[in-house]
Amino acid sequence: MAAPAEKAVTYYTLEEIQKHNSSKSTWLIIHYKVYDLTKFLEEHPGGEEVLREQAGGDATENFEDVGHSTDAREMSQSYIIGELHPETLITTLNSNSSWWTNWLIPAISALVVAMMYRMYIAED
Ligand code: HEM
Repeated sequence: MAAPAEKAVTYYTLEEIQKHNSSKSTWLIIHYKVYDLTKFLEEHPGGEEVLREQAGGDATENFEDVGHSTDAREMSQSYIIGELHPETLITTLNSNSSWWTNWLIPAISALVVAMMYRMYIAED
C-alpha cells in the first residue's frame, strides 16, 4: 500500500532564492514561504516595481505594510513554490544570539575585570 499522502515541501536556501532577483525569474519570501512571482509581475495591481525591488529577498514586512486583502492573500497561495529551508532560519537565529553571547558578554566581563583591577591597583 502507498504511504499516506504527505505533501512534499521543497525547501530553498537563502542563497538559492537570492539568485532569482531579476525579471527573468522573480522569487520572494513572505512569511518563510517562497513565491515565484515571475508570471505575476505584470498582473500585480500594486505594480511590477515594488515586487522587483524585493526580488530574491524577504518581502514579508512590505507585503504586510500594504495590508493586502483576503483576495490578494488567497491569490498569493498559487505562487508558492516552497519554503525557506529550516537550516537557514537556524543559522539566522544562531548568528543573532552568538553576537550577544560571543561578543557582548565577554566584552562587558573584560571591562568589569579591567575596572576591578584598576581599583585594586589604586588601593595599593
Ligand atoms: C504573492 C504576492 C502578492 C500578491 C498575490 C499581491 C496581490 C495584490 C493585490 C490583489 C492587490 C490589490 C489590492 C488588494 O487586493 O489588496 C495588491 C496591491 C498592492 N500590492 Fe501586492 N501582492 C503581492 C505581493 C506584494 C509585495 C511583496 C508588495 C510590496 C513589496 C506589494 C505591494 C502592493 C502595493 C503597494 C499595492 C497597492 C496598494 C494600493 O493601491 O493601495 N504586493 N497586491
